[in-house]
Parts: sequence; C-alpha cells; structure tokens
Amino acid sequence: VNKEEGMPTLIVTTPNGQQRVLTVESEQSVMEGIRQAGVGELLAMCGGCCSCATCHIYVDEGFWDKLPPMSADEDSLLDGALDRRSRSRLSCQIRMSPDLDGLAVTIAESE
Ligand code: FES
Repeated sequence: VNKEEGMPTLIVTTPNGQQRVLTVESEQSVMEGIRQAGVGELLAMCGGCCSCATCHIYVDEGFWDKLPPMSADEDSLLDGALDRRSRSRLSCQIRMSPDLDGLAVTIAESE
C-alpha cells in the first residue's frame, strides 16, 4: 500500500466483496473519502446531513470503540436502514483522524 504522509488509510469493502484501500484527509468524513474515491456503492443521498441513512456502513470490530459516539439522530435513522447490525454506523458521521488510521468498513446494501 502506497501511503501519503500523514493521511489516514481507510479500507472499504463494497457490498459485493470488492476491497479498496484509500487515503483520506483527516477531518474528512468516511463518507466523503469513499465518495471522492469514486466508490459508487455508497449513495450518501443527503450529502452528509444525517438525514438519509444511505451512507450506512458496518465498522470492523477493532475500531468500534474508537469511533465518536452516535447521536440520537443517527441512531434513529439507522433504525430505519435496511439490515441494521450491531456495528452499523452512518459514514457521514465519522471523521477520519490519525487515530482511525487503518479503519476498515463494509458498505451496507442500500436496497
Ligand atoms: S449521507 Fe445521508 S445520512 Fe449520511
């Protein structure tokens, strides 16, 4: 993996099992990083306003405890998402940071 200095790495698996390794600027959201890399499986229809739940991801176990806490809004949106699981999050609500270097997520099926 070729890694740019200081940019945290994000490992994304699409719903059909393809894996991509991206570098994302700190402070960008996981959703923005995935969209900017051209991964179209993440719809993110509302553009990050926490109102659509089409940026639903499953977070790899080892990173779950490092994530920022979930807001009540995010929690209730996830309730309406298809196939919510124990490590479901909305990717627009997670900002990349050096702490999250190597974060691995799987994009949820959206329909
Ligand atoms: S992009 Fe719509 S809730 Fe995340």
